Amino acid sequence: MPGPAGPHPAPTPAHGLIPAPRTSWATRPGGGAGYVLDEHTRIEARPGTERVARWLRATVGAATGLPLAPHHPAEGDGGQVVLRLDPDLERRLGAEGHRVVVDGRGAVIEGGSETGVFWGAQTFRQLLGPEVFRRAPVDPARRQWRLPALGVEDAPRFGWRGLMLDVARHFLPKDGVFAYIDLLAAHKLNVLHLHLTDDQGWRLEIRRYPKLTEVGGWRPRTKLGHRASPLWDPRPHGGHYTQDDIREIVAYAAERHITVVPEIDIPGHSGAAIAAYPELGNSDVVDTSSLGVLTTWRTNPNVLSPTDHTLRFYENVLEEVLELFPGTFVHLGGDECPKDQWKASPAAQARIRDLGLADEDELQSWFIRHFGLWLRERGRRLIGWDEILEGGTARSGGLAPGAAVASWRGYAGGIAAARAGHDVVMCPEQQVYFDHRQAAGDDEPAPIGYVRTLEDVYRFEPVPPQLGEDERDRVLGAQANVWTEVMEDRRRVDYQTFPRLAAFAEVVWSALPQPSERDFTEFTGRMTEHYARLDALGVSYRPPSGPHPWQRRPGILGRPLDGAPPIV
Ligand code: ACM
Repeated sequence: MPGPAGPHPAPTPAHGLIPAPRTSWATRPGGGAGYVLDEHTRIEARPGTERVARWLRATVGAATGLPLAPHHPAEGDGGQVVLRLDPDLERRLGAEGHRVVVDGRGAVIEGGSETGVFWGAQTFRQLLGPEVFRRAPVDPARRQWRLPALGVEDAPRFGWRGLMLDVARHFLPKDGVFAYIDLLAAHKLNVLHLHLTDDQGWRLEIRRYPKLTEVGGWRPRTKLGHRASPLWDPRPHGGHYTQDDIREIVAYAAERHITVVPEIDIPGHSGAAIAAYPELGNSDVVDTSSLGVLTTWRTNPNVLSPTDHTLRFYENVLEEVLELFPGTFVHLGGDECPKDQWKASPAAQARIRDLGLADEDELQSWFIRHFGLWLRERGRRLIGWDEILEGGTARSGGLAPGAAVASWRGYAGGIAAARAGHDVVMCPEQQVYFDHRQAAGDDEPAPIGYVRTLEDVYRFEPVPPQLGEDERDRVLGAQANVWTEVMEDRRRVDYQTFPRLAAFAEVVWSALPQPSERDFTEFTGRMTEHYARLDALGVSYRPPSGPHPWQRRPGILGRPLDGAPPIV
C-alpha cells in the first residue's frame, strides 16, 4: 500500500477535513475512485477495536441506514472496513496516531491505540460527507456512500485539547452535555472541563451534603444581560446532575476517548455553597445565613472561611468527586477570591498568625496547597486558574508537587508556572474565551469583551515564545472557555462556540506553531464543508454573514471592551 511517500501524491491534501491531517495521499493513480459503502459492507474489528466498531455502526449506520454488519475473520475474506491496532504507529506517532487508507477494496483504520483508531474513525466519517452527520437517512433510496481513494496519516500536536463549559451560571441539561461530547469527538478534542460550582449555582449532587443542590442548585431570578443591565429574567433558574447522571456522562465521554475534568471552585466563587451551608463563610464578618445564591454577575466578596471545618467539608465533597470522575486532574478553581473578608476576619487572621504566613495571598496559597497535597496522596493532580500561583512563597509552600496551572489572564501565569516546573494548560482570555464577541457589529447578542473572530482563534498559539526548549514541554495543550452569564441555553452556547471551536480544534491538533504560516484562506475553504456538517448535526452556529434575526438580543446590555486585546 503506498505510504505518505508513495507514488500518487494527493492533488489536494484536505478533502474538507477539520482538523487538517498531517499527511495525506491519493491511493489510486490518476485520482481513481475510492470505495463505496453499501448494504454488503462489513466491519471487521480486530482485537482492541470493538468499541470503536460499535460507535461506527451506531453513528454511520444510523445516518446511512446501512447494516454495516460485523465480519468475523473465521468467515474468510476480510471485512471491507477493517479496524486494527498498529504498534508501529504508536512507536512513531504515539497512542493517538492513526492511519486511514481507502482504496478500491475498502478502508483500513489503524491506530497506535484504541484512541488512535477512534480518531481515525472520525476522519473516516468526515470523508463520507456531511449527510453522514445526521441521525437518520434523509433519502431512503440512497444505498451507496462514496469514500475518496485517499490515505491519511495523522497525530495531534497537543495531548490536552479542551473545552470548558460553565454549567454553573446557566445549567446545561445533560442532553446538551452529551451533544457537546459528540461535538468534541467530531473535532478530535479530548477534554471536557465542567465548571460545576459558582456563586450562581451548584450543579453536582453530593450525597453527604444534600443542601448543596437543594439550596445551592437554584436561584430565584437572573440578571438579564451583564452587570449594568437593569433587566431581569423573573423565572427561577436551576438544575443539577445526579451522581448517576455524572456516571453516565463520564462513561459516554470515555467511549468517545474524552476525559471529563470536574471543577469545584474554591475559595472564591463559592457563594452557592455558602448559601446552602452558611458556616462555610466568614460568619465572624458577615451574617452568612442571610446570603442567597447570587442572581447577578458581580464579583462576590463572600468567600470561604479558611477553617478546619471548611477543609474537612471540601475533603468530604472531593471524596465523592473522586469516586465519580476517574481522570487524573481535578480543577479547584482558585480564581478571583477577594481578600477583604479575610482581612477583617479574626478567624482568618488567627490562621495567618498560627501558620506564620505574611498575608492573605499566602493564606490562599496554603489553602490551595492543602488540597493539592490531599489530591496527590490519592493519586490525582490539582489544576487551578493562574491565581493559584499568587502567595506562593517558602512560608506558604506554594503549589503542591504535580499541580498544574490553567493560564487564563494571558500568558504570564503559564510562563511562570512552566519555569517553576509545573504543567500548564493555556486558555488566555484575550484569545480563547468564547464568551467574548466574535464580531464588532451592533447585532452581536449581549456583546462581551474583545472582538475575537474565527481568524483570530485560528491564529492563537498555545506555546508562549518566551519559553525555552525544555520549558515548552510543560504546555500540555490548550482549552477554550465558555462562560455562560449571558448564555441561557444550548442555542446561545452553540452561537458563541461555533464556528470558533473548529478553528480551535485545528490549532491544538494540527496548526503550524508559527501563526503567520497558517493559511486561513485554505481553512476557510474547508469550512464550507464543515458548515454543512454542523448543519447536519443541528448546531446553531454564528453564520459567517452575521447572526440570524433570532440570534440577536436587542436591548440586552453586554460588556464590550474596545480596541485590540492586550496580549500579556
Ligand atoms: C476566570 O475566568 N475567572 C477563570
